[in-house]
This record gives sequence, C-alpha cells and structure tokens, in this order.
Amino acid sequence: MTPYKTIIEPFRIKSVEPIKFTDRPHRDAALAAAGHNVFLLHAEDVLIDLLTDSGTGAMSSQQWGALMQGDESYAGSRSFYRFRDVVRDLTGFEHIIPTHQGRAAERILFHTQVRDGQIVPNNNHFDTTRANIEVEGAEARDLVIAEGRVPAKMHPFKGNVDLGALEHLLEDDRRLHGGTRVPLVMVTVTNNSGGGQPVSLENLKGVRRLCDKYGKPFFLDACRFAENAYFIKLREPGMRDVPPRDIAREMFRLADGCTMSAKKDGLANIGGFLALNDGAWAEAARNLLILTEGFPTYGGLAGYDLEAIARGLEEVVEEPYLRYRIRSTEYLGDKLVAGGVPIIRPTGGHAIYVDARALLPHIPPLQYPGIALANALYLEGGIRGVEIGTVMFGLHPDGSETPAAMDLVRLAIPRRVYTQSHIDYVAEVVLSVARQAAPLRGYRIAAAPKVLRHFTARFEPL
Ligand code: F0G
Repeated sequence: MTPYKTIIEPFRIKSVEPIKFTDRPHRDAALAAAGHNVFLLHAEDVLIDLLTDSGTGAMSSQQWGALMQGDESYAGSRSFYRFRDVVRDLTGFEHIIPTHQGRAAERILFHTQVRDGQIVPNNNHFDTTRANIEVEGAEARDLVIAEGRVPAKMHPFKGNVDLGALEHLLEDDRRLHGGTRVPLVMVTVTNNSGGGQPVSLENLKGVRRLCDKYGKPFFLDACRFAENAYFIKLREPGMRDVPPRDIAREMFRLADGCTMSAKKDGLANIGGFLALNDGAWAEAARNLLILTEGFPTYGGLAGYDLEAIARGLEEVVEEPYLRYRIRSTEYLGDKLVAGGVPIIRPTGGHAIYVDARALLPHIPPLQYPGIALANALYLEGGIRGVEIGTVMFGLHPDGSETPAAMDLVRLAIPRRVYTQSHIDYVAEVVLSVARQAAPLRGYRIAAAPKVLRHFTARFEPL
C-alpha cells in the first residue's frame, strides 16, 4: 500500500485492441438500420461499449497462459477437476455443475425444481432469471427493501431482501398451501436490476434463518459475488479487516447452492455453473445438463474455458483488484452526480444507472424514456448503454404492459478494459446529453417478440 490517495489500475497493458471513431451521420444511419435498438448495432460502430459487463472483461496474462493448459478430453478432463476444486473451495458446495453461462444454470435449476403456479422470491430477478421462472408457469416475485426501489435514496445495502415480506410470503405458503408454493428462495448479489447494489451479510443471515424456519432451500444468484463481498468489507460493521475472499466464502456458506455467470466475477468471456449441496437435485440437474449442455465434466464449455474461469475466480477476490474495480465505478458516478445527473445512489459495483424517468420527465414510461436516453448517448458520443426499464420489464406474461418500477439506463463497466480517460469521456458525453435533454422524444415499438423483447425489438421515434 502506498500513502497516496490515487487508486491506480492494478495491472499494466500488454495487448491493445483499436476502437473505431465514427461521426454523427454514420451513427444516425447505424442506429436507424438497427431499428433504434442499440442491441442490434454492430459493435464495431460503438466507441465505448457499456452495454454489459458480462463476458466483456479483459483476461489476465495468467488466464491466457492457463488456456494452453486446457484438457479437452470429453469426460473427466483435468481442467474440470481444477475448476471443480476452485469452485468448491470458494463456495463450499458439494456438487459443481459447469454450464455455458449463467442462464443455462438457471434454466436447469428452475426446469427441474419449479412448477406451474409456484412463486420464486428474490431481491430483484434479473431478466433471464425472471424469464426462466415464468417459462415454467411460475411467478418471479421481487422483494427488495423499500429503499432499493427509490433511486436517490441512500442506503449502504440497497440490495437487501425485505425480510418481513419474505416471512409473510413463506408464512402464507405454509398456512394456505402446506409449504408447496415456494420451491426455493433466491438472492441476487449484487442486485443487478436494482442498481448493482449489495446485500449485507446480516441480511443473508436473515434469509438463512427464514429458510431454516420454513424448510426452504436458499440459492444465491452469485454473478457478482466478489463485488458484493467488497461492499460488505467497506460498509458492514466489523468487516474492515476481513479479506474479501473470506467474506465471499461466508456468503456462500449461508446458502444451499448458487447459479453463477462466470462472465462477470469469473473474469472470463464465457461460462457459468450451478453449484449445490443436495444430491438428488444435483442428479436431476446433471441429467438435464447432458440433454442440453453436455457431459457433466464440461457442461458446454471447452477445457480451456474451465481453466480461465478457475484462474479468474482466484483473481477476482484479490483486494487490489476489487479496490480498483469498486472505485472506478464510483469515479464515474461521482462525476455524474457533481454534474447534476440523476443516478441510482450510492453507486453500485459494476455499473452506473442513470434515472431516465427523472432526467426525461416529459417522456411517459410507455414511450420508453430509457430507450430515448440510451439512443441519445449513442448518437451524441458513440456510447452504448442499455435500458433497464419498461421495455425490459413492462410486458407481462398475459400480454398486458405497465410501467416498470424504474426507467434506467445502465452504463455497465467491463472489467479491466477501459482507462480513466475513456471514463472521463463518457462522463462528458452524459453531461452534455443531460444538458440537452428537453427536446428528446420517446419511441413506440414497431415489432417485438413476446418474451425478452428488449433484445430484438425494433422502435420508431415519436
Ligand atoms: N443473473 C444476473 C444477476 C445477471 O446479471 C445475469 C446476466 C444473469 C443472471 C445471466 O447470466 O448472461 O451468463 O446467462 N446479466 C448480463 C447483464 C447479461 O448484462 O447484466 P448469463
């Protein structure tokens, strides 16, 4: 540790990838060709890509080196056992089932354990989690604390579960349905849909107590477990001196299993896993895995992917990395707050969430202020963010549409990819768009599928 305040990137750059500069007429044409949906842009036409922090990180030289150690045997690969040992050591779970990414782990868990008419509670379900529950005919219920629904409200753990609401649900389940309504309880760390906000250890312990009381399995959606662990270190009383790795282990040990996207805190470009203690559940999961993902020692991944993830899971809990990671996100948040841009506060772990509804109060939610803002950021500066709002969450399984709880534009920060000057540029562009927000107009949907419509919908400006 140095005595200086500046938190520097804990790496130097060995290999670079050029990015393409475009002008406004080029971006106008590109966005129109993409149906005014930034998901449909060619990535080459994007200057700074903040669409997601998923699979977009830079691997370390140690990870690239590990790729050469990949054992590509179909069954019993050495790389699987290395991966399994790292995941087991971190999580403490008995059964480690690799999958090609997080949603495959979700699908396998929910398809084997969730039935029509059941309810799966969570702080906030992310889009794929919700969709994989709804496709089974079940309800994905969000039980985040009230503070977690108000963008400007400060709270150290805005991702916490409302334990009173959870107990109410579990009590009703016991009294009215003999305990058959809720198959499992999930908690997402950090809470992506609610602003990348952390969940406290105390809250996870509270969920554990309720799961014990009502006999429910407790699963973490663990994509950003390391960022959550670092927030616990910074904010939870008595945790300052505990290494992030130990905090992460304590989080996992409170649960019975987890789904994981290794594309986030696995520091890998692809991969995921389902990990759990229950032998019968694991067997059902493995049987479905073989049907759709692959043999249980590779689960849709190459041996070299398993090596990269194993190494990534070790690097991601290193303190210099997490200090840099959390601070660099906060750095962008601080600049936007100083410029008066409404964002979810405090700043989350992997992204800034601009409150599009507050910034564009003249655009009603059903005219998609998040789309208007995301598109304006692209047209102004070649920056790609993503709407997390009414397009993503407003359409219900019965076909009705209502405003989502919030209309946000998420600027997700890929891990170890952009430098401080990239981020300074992003702040300049956002501030400029915010100053010129009054003339921005909403959109209508020209064409969209019924499920996960935000990925492929086409829009028309109003
Ligand atoms: N759970 C959460 C909380 C997520 O954020 C994601 C993915 C998943 C599950 C699914 O994982 O992509 O590997 O299948 N989130 C990405 C994002 C796509 O942009 O936030 P996956």
